[in-house]
Amino acid sequence: MSALPAFTNAPAENTELDLTGIRADFPILRQRIHGKPLVYLDNAASVQKPKVVIDAISECYSSYYANIHRGVHLLSERSTMAYERTREKVRAFLNAASIQEIIFTRGTTESINLVASSFGGSTVKAGDEIVITGMEHHSNIVPWQLLCERTGAVLKAAPFTDAGELILEEYERLLNSGRVKLAAFVHISNALGTINPVKTMVDLARARSIPTLIDGAQSVAHLTVDVRDLDCDFYAFSGHKIYGPSGVGVLYGKQSLLEAMPPYQGGGDMISLVTFEKTEYADLPNKFEAGTPNIAGVIGLGAALDWLSALGLDTVAAHERLLLDYATAQLLEIPGLSIMGTAQQKAALVAFTLQGIHPHDIGTILDREGVAIRAGHHCAQPVMQRYGVPATARASFAVYNTRDEVDALVKALWKVKELFA
Ligand code: ALA
Repeated sequence: MSALPAFTNAPAENTELDLTGIRADFPILRQRIHGKPLVYLDNAASVQKPKVVIDAISECYSSYYANIHRGVHLLSERSTMAYERTREKVRAFLNAASIQEIIFTRGTTESINLVASSFGGSTVKAGDEIVITGMEHHSNIVPWQLLCERTGAVLKAAPFTDAGELILEEYERLLNSGRVKLAAFVHISNALGTINPVKTMVDLARARSIPTLIDGAQSVAHLTVDVRDLDCDFYAFSGHKIYGPSGVGVLYGKQSLLEAMPPYQGGGDMISLVTFEKTEYADLPNKFEAGTPNIAGVIGLGAALDWLSALGLDTVAAHERLLLDYATAQLLEIPGLSIMGTAQQKAALVAFTLQGIHPHDIGTILDREGVAIRAGHHCAQPVMQRYGVPATARASFAVYNTRDEVDALVKALWKVKELFA
């Protein structure tokens, strides 16, 4: 691991974090885009990778790569150990009770599809209900719709306010039907930045014996997640949004539920005995990891968790809060700019529209200024429909972003205004 500054404690409020060491860890941040310094503000889509992650993947492939769990040779043993070490790191990171509760997947989307297919497919019947919220990413909508189509179950979405805050009473009302088989909801909305009161949402469901799934894609890199404290049944996240590689993700599930669930996919590594008459499945977690997994990706995820844990999520959260407040104040000074998502509890992203200018035009002009943001529906079309807009522009921050970069964003937006004046 490259040298990290000793950021063990959260900085005092309003004290700026010294980002020199952090930024030096990210080779890509030294890039120039269209001749301008890169200002990367598309972190909710995917964050950049520190050198320790790139090196861990490269080292795996260049010095000890082999398939895992199968070989008796040294390389296979080393790869298996490194892969399984990450499972323990994920367990500790989430404070899960056991490594058997940590399943590696391709990402949040596959984690949710796994639960929809395996848990949903084995428990949900016609007339049952799945409760989500109105601010879900498509990956926490469509898998449930597919399940509903297969089973005759019904999907219900709890609404949210104009500020982007979940209406808890409506969520609770939906849980009261006596037919709800699962409540599945996003921790942090990728389209609004809202941090949902997930502990309360789990408690409300648990009081009615309804299992819960939390989509943590946008949260794990920004705030501490403790699955035992939350007492959720499932928690899903992706490697690429937590400074790790893409193509790898995690499903946390309570052991008792995972044990009762049928396999998601069949194949190698998920069995203990196969005959043509019958197959006996492997114990957890292997039962849910059919086929050769993303070995180097999982190892890279382990390096990312080490990097982030050394920095400390309190430090990350405090810095990103400063950026959010600073950006929000500056952006609101631009005439015609409206922010979508103004929840009290909000993560460091700002989705906005500029009157009379399409978000794609904003994104394109900003790109020429070296500023990378995302423009579109953010895979959350029902959120766009809720506000009656086809798309928004979205700047989303990571721990390596600076106030100067916020200034660059704002300056570029004034340029957009001038061009469309
Ligand atoms: N879901 C990702 C985003 O919000 C891709 O941009």
